[in-house]
Amino acid sequence: SNSNTTVDEKLYAICELLEANITYYNWVGFYFKNGDKNELKLGPYVGEPTDHTIIPFGKGICGQVAVSNQNFVVPDVSAQDNYIACSITVKAEIVIPIFVNGENIGQIDIDSNTPDPFTEADERFLEFVCKQVAEIIA
Ligand code: SME
Repeated sequence: SNSNTTVDEKLYAICELLEANITYYNWVGFYFKNGDKNELKLGPYVGEPTDHTIIPFGKGICGQVAVSNQNFVVPDVSAQDNYIACSITVKAEIVIPIFVNGENIGQIDIDSNTPDPFTEADERFLEFVCKQVAEIIA
C-alpha cells in the first residue's frame, strides 16, 4: 500500500479489468467482513447497482462463503434456495474467498448472464486474483 492509488481504487481497477476482458463476467465486485459484525459489506464493484450492500453471514451465496471458507460455483442460480437475486438477467455466479493471515476477510463475487460458464480454470484464476488482493489489503 505504498502509492497514491488507494486500496479501493486498485480493487475497482481489478473489477474493471475482469468485467471488460472476460465476456461472461458481467458483474464483478468485492464484499468484505464489516468490522466485527457477522455481515458482509459491499466494496468496489462494476456492473448494475445492487440493493444488497449488506449481507448477513449465512445469507445468499456470498453469506454462505463467509462461513464455509470455500469457493462456491453456481452454474444455475434458479436451482439455489439460499440465493439473493441482484438482477433478473443473472444466470450463474462464482464466489471465491479472500484470506489474509489464514482469515476469511472477504470475497470476490462474479455474476454471469450466461448459463453454466464457470470452469475450474476460473476458480484457479480467481484464487490467484484473490491472493493478489490479499497483498494489496495487507
Ligand atoms: N447473489 C449474491 C448477492 C450479491 S449480488 O450477486 C451482487 C448472493 O446470493 O449472495
